Amino acid sequence: MGLRKDFLWGGAIAANQVEGAWNVDGKGLSVADVASYKPNIDVKDYRKQIGVTQADINEAIESTDVEKYPKRRGIDFYHRYPEDLALFHEMGFKTLRLSIAWTRIFPTGEETEPNQAGLAYYKSLFAKMHELNIEPIVTLSHYEMPLALAIKYNGWADRRVISLFERFCKACFNAFKTDVKYWLTFNEIDSVTRHPFTSAGIIPDQTENLLQTEYQAFHHQFVASALVTKACHEIIPGSQVGCMLTKLTDYPNSSDPRDVLASLNKNTMNYFPADVQVFGEYPPLVLKYFKEQHINIEMTPADLTILKENPVDFVTFSYYMSMVSSYDENNLTLTTGNTIVGGKNPHLPVTEWGWTVDPVGLRISLLQLYDRYRKPLMIVENGMGAKDVLTPEHQVHDDYRIKYFRAHFEEMIKAVDAGVDLLGYTSWAPIDLVSASTSQMSKRYGFIYVDEDDLGHGSLNRYRKDSFKWYQKVIRTNGADL
Ligand code: BG6
Repeated sequence: MGLRKDFLWGGAIAANQVEGAWNVDGKGLSVADVASYKPNIDVKDYRKQIGVTQADINEAIESTDVEKYPKRRGIDFYHRYPEDLALFHEMGFKTLRLSIAWTRIFPTGEETEPNQAGLAYYKSLFAKMHELNIEPIVTLSHYEMPLALAIKYNGWADRRVISLFERFCKACFNAFKTDVKYWLTFNEIDSVTRHPFTSAGIIPDQTENLLQTEYQAFHHQFVASALVTKACHEIIPGSQVGCMLTKLTDYPNSSDPRDVLASLNKNTMNYFPADVQVFGEYPPLVLKYFKEQHINIEMTPADLTILKENPVDFVTFSYYMSMVSSYDENNLTLTTGNTIVGGKNPHLPVTEWGWTVDPVGLRISLLQLYDRYRKPLMIVENGMGAKDVLTPEHQVHDDYRIKYFRAHFEEMIKAVDAGVDLLGYTSWAPIDLVSASTSQMSKRYGFIYVDEDDLGHGSLNRYRKDSFKWYQKVIRTNGADL
């Protein structure tokens, strides 16, 4: 059997992690522009350390420092995209998943008219992609909402942000209706409770009841997602809109039924945002959980109708690692992955950053998701961060990366052979970029090496790693030769 003939092979990036040009062509500040370089995160204390405070924001607004705020400089994709797209094309990419920075189109989120320079930038980017037969998959919100909305409204905590987001999305649909068919609403929508500021613009130290606020923000994002799904279908006939979930596949730590139950509960909470976007309603078990936790979400009957009438067309997800759960946390050794902390599986190795490597978990995830949703799936993030070494000849011998991807592709193909409808696969990330969680460059994901260090020093030259040629072969043979 194998993969479908039109399988969308490619890579995924986000505007705030690659573009740089943070103050160019009318762009406003986004929440990503105030995220500082934090290489030594203890993820167990993640919320405290990454959780941006009002004081941090005030300091950042006054600063023009691009060493301290690495997402302001990215890898200069803003200016170098023709070269980067040419390299993706050389690898044979059929698709590139990228995001549109809201702040390039509406710098504070509240303007009534879009910024023409921002639209023009993405218009030329998409034109170049089509010239190279690279189909865009566009994320509308990838950890980069306008900072002004975080400050004024506490981000998605406020219902008024829904219509501002709708305005932004409609401007994109109208401007790019002939360029983009595949759209994703919110990147890793489940992440609101992990990093409320980057994901939803919520400033924790200005928020009284954080948990309640986070779930209210979730609700606003669900309604916004449904409304823009509707708008997209109306403005671009034939368009496909997907949700995007961090697939945090969890296993019971043992066959003790109490461990099985703990794991089941973890998975239920992980699925819930995708459940709402696919089934158009909240799962009863989650509503019960809200009651128990005294979480009272304001939702109107009209909201519920909007959700029900506008489910997504397909389901996408990121997959990096799996974890284990137990009824008693003392039974677990903890491990981490960017913003995630969970039980370590003794059967599996971890990366330099502690992320559990579990290719079979990818197959399990695909089978679970397809069985649950019966919608076409797409893997839109998967990859490993590693410390690569650039030789004096400008080579990178990253056999560990090839090994990682090969194992994941083998399992992905087995899932497809078992009947999963899989539209495509985009690696995170095809080119080295600034890390979302730590803002490091040295945690490298790409098939393409970018000569830039954690402080932004370097020529920014691009070099092909060994994995570049390998991925090119995989795409050429549609996964037959791994
Ligand atoms: C996902 C995000 O959570 O993980 C990406 O959608 C991110 O934006 C990726 O870059 C890898 O995480 P990190 O923190 O290593 O960059």
